[in-house]
Amino acid sequence: MFNNTYPYRSSMSTTVSKSFKLLANIIKKKLKPKLILEIGSNDGTFMRNFNKNKIIGIEPCKNVEKITKQKKLNTHPLYWNDKTAKFLRSKYGKFDLIFSANTLSHIKNLDNVFKNVYNLLSETGVLIIEDPSLLECLKKNTYDQFYNEHIYVFSCVALNKILKKNKLEIYKVEKLNIHGGSNRYFIKKISDKKNIDKSFLKQIKNEKKYGLTNKKTYFKFAKRVNKSKNKLRSIFVKLKKQKNKVIGYGATAKSTTILNFCNINNNYIEYFLDTTQDKQNKYTPGTKIKIIKYKNEIEKNIKYIFLGAWNFKEEILKKEKKFIKRGGKFIIHTPYPKII
Ligand code: TMP
Repeated sequence: MFNNTYPYRSSMSTTVSKSFKLLANIIKKKLKPKLILEIGSNDGTFMRNFNKNKIIGIEPCKNVEKITKQKKLNTHPLYWNDKTAKFLRSKYGKFDLIFSANTLSHIKNLDNVFKNVYNLLSETGVLIIEDPSLLECLKKNTYDQFYNEHIYVFSCVALNKILKKNKLEIYKVEKLNIHGGSNRYFIKKISDKKNIDKSFLKQIKNEKKYGLTNKKTYFKFAKRVNKSKNKLRSIFVKLKKQKNKVIGYGATAKSTTILNFCNINNNYIEYFLDTTQDKQNKYTPGTKIKIIKYKNEIEKNIKYIFLGAWNFKEEILKKEKKFIKRGGKFIIHTPYPKII
């Protein structure tokens, strides 16, 4: 999956770029690391905020890794595994900051992932990871967070258990709006005596209160997901009956999950717009909807857009003021399917 045709680019969203820049400033001010490693550096959106000598990236998708190399950032086209960790250790020594956004939850063997992080992290070093939050996913009914790449959707409770097995622990949690609600976890070695922040205890409390550690919660979730499917389908069927032309916006992996699960194909959506070059002129998997280059303007005869990139709703709504002003509407599936 993570090969040289991987289409995802972190830099395609200003929300992501801004968030990384803010975090980089905090890291520079507060943690002052001498050497940083980014696992899954994609097109260098995070790395470019640092002095080139201070940060090393690894990225197994050669096509995106090439982009960072061209920007003279120090990256290696490698997947995070034992061999890579050994190589990095011998070439650079230990790191005092390891960062990874939306990557570690893509790797199956988490024990191995964190064992290698432990070995590469200095004694007072910090691991910062960002991933979609299971609590937000269940609250917002965003079942489309579960797809091929997303092997895991982390809860703070479960993540901390796996970390502890590997002599690591969470000491702070920040909630992010990114990707429909993510958590940024600050992780340290158990042997490091940094204080455990209130934010960690609060997150654990909230997760337990919601029922994340109770099986029943997931059966209820499954029921809500099926309800959501029926409602979304009925919206599309109605719009089709009324002879409306509907298009999609943001051909995300998440929208692929929604459309396949809800049986919404090229009968209901004419085409998808997307800014990512590698997705353009291709088709949405399973539903065969053509993906077309976004050209800053929505066709005049379009009134309804299915928001595939719902996780960037604010950014997109701001960008499409003209469409909204002329009566254009978005179809969204979270927290429940509706037209906005
Ligand atoms: P993601 O949800 O997996 O991050 O993917 C977002 C996709 O949406 C990506 O292919 C880029 C696309 N996109 C647009 O086409 N226009 C936009 O304004 C934004 C924010 C994203």
